[in-house]
Amino acid sequence: MGLSIVILAAGKGTRMQSNMPKVLHKIASKSMLQHVIDAAQQLQPEQIIVVAGHEIEQVKSSIAEQDIIIAEQSEQLGTGHAVDQALPLVSEGNQVLVLYGDVPLIQKETLKQLIDAQPKDGIGLLTVKLKDPSGYGRIIRNTDGRVTAIVEQKDATMDQLAINEVNTGIMSVGSSKLKQWLAKIDNNNAQGEYYLTDTIAMAADEGGVRACHPSSAIEVEGVNSRIQLAQLERAFQQHQAEQLMNEGVTLIDPSRFDVRGNLICATDVVIDVNVIIEGDVTIGRGSQIGANSIIINSKIGADCIIKPNSVIEGAIIESDCSVGPFARIRPGTQLSQGAFIGNFVETKNTVMGQGSKASHLSYIGDAEVGTGVNIGAGVITCNYDGANKYKTIIEDDAFIGSDSQLIAPVTVGKGATIGAGTTVTKDVAAGELCISRVAQKHIESWARPVKEQTKKNLEEKK
Ligand code: UD1
Ligand code: CA
Repeated sequence: MGLSIVILAAGKGTRMQSNMPKVLHKIASKSMLQHVIDAAQQLQPEQIIVVAGHEIEQVKSSIAEQDIIIAEQSEQLGTGHAVDQALPLVSEGNQVLVLYGDVPLIQKETLKQLIDAQPKDGIGLLTVKLKDPSGYGRIIRNTDGRVTAIVEQKDATMDQLAINEVNTGIMSVGSSKLKQWLAKIDNNNAQGEYYLTDTIAMAADEGGVRACHPSSAIEVEGVNSRIQLAQLERAFQQHQAEQLMNEGVTLIDPSRFDVRGNLICATDVVIDVNVIIEGDVTIGRGSQIGANSIIINSKIGADCIIKPNSVIEGAIIESDCSVGPFARIRPGTQLSQGAFIGNFVETKNTVMGQGSKASHLSYIGDAEVGTGVNIGAGVITCNYDGANKYKTIIEDDAFIGSDSQLIAPVTVGKGATIGAGTTVTKDVAAGELCISRVAQKHIESWARPVKEQTKKNLEEKK
């Protein structure tokens, strides 16, 4: 029997106060809907069907590249009606798992358990006990403890309102039974909606209802407002932080650390406060990441020191490198082992050879820098003529004096020396000294210019 996963995502989410459909709001830089889809994909279903309605075009385009079926629910008449829109698209005889686009943190393990627990002609239902159950559908059990029905908050009696086991909405059910039961529900209730939850009482009379519980309550928390969105973001970040700490990473303050993507760390990495990780990042053993650094889609080797306030994107940094503080490492940068990039240095599309240094205030772009090179303070590779970009090659052991400009395309040969303040426009051969500075002159008793008004005042006094 194949698995069809139906994700409800048609609602407007009025309380978000947004032009964007609720399910496209993001947690850790990924839409809530995409979180749910990613969890669903891990179950390797035969099909995923997203029920969309409000701002359907936005929802569609957000998932366009993926193998996902869209079912349209043009009017939101209730969760039962929503599932009913997907049913004609479900492969005959499949098992149906119902998920919600605004319940983003659901985990594969919980869903697997639920699918396995589902009685053949009944429903597997994910429920949770809450200190404050208000707003949720309540789980009604008989004296044997069997689930017999769900009663929505607005339809519940005082006694039922006191029940603290609630419906998460997530359920697993066979498609043919679901079809039969959905055909029987009506909207004769306090909200005038077709409730998916009304199928529970029908299942209880037939194949039975078996309840499962998530391993953590945040898995089934829904988002209705931006406040809840921020709370779930924190919970998610805390969860990721705990995983990293369990794997041997030191986080100076897990509440001031954000991973918006995938971070893989070896042991004994130390990450200071306010670090943000985006995309795919790996960090090698023993490396230290300074406060306020942002690392995007990069690989950092072992025993590196990234000093505070560095921004690193699209870079490969080998072991034993030192970067920052206040460095900007841009895409296409490769720092070989033991390279040193100091404060206010920007690199782009540049390979720095082993042990090479640019310690202060430089721009190094489109450059190939050999090993053991020293780039002085304020050196700039002029890689762009306003239309095209050109390459600068600096061979092994060259020394580039401070405040020099290298006008690309240009090559500085092995071991060459560039005097401070030189504008290099032609290739420099290996071992040469190149200097373009004007010879220093001395003019004795130089009278500096004075202001016109001061001159007049002096003349009047005479
Ligand atoms: C629903 C459950 C309730 C459960 C709660 C958990 C029903 C009747 N009630 O209540 O038992 O405790 O979820 O959060 O199922 N949606 C559509 N189309 C619709 C209606 C809803 O796509 O016509 C989507 C919404 O976008 C939302 C989700 O389904 O993501 C839940 O709908 P909502 O109306 O918020 O249900 P609740 O009242 O929260
Ligand atoms: Ca809800």
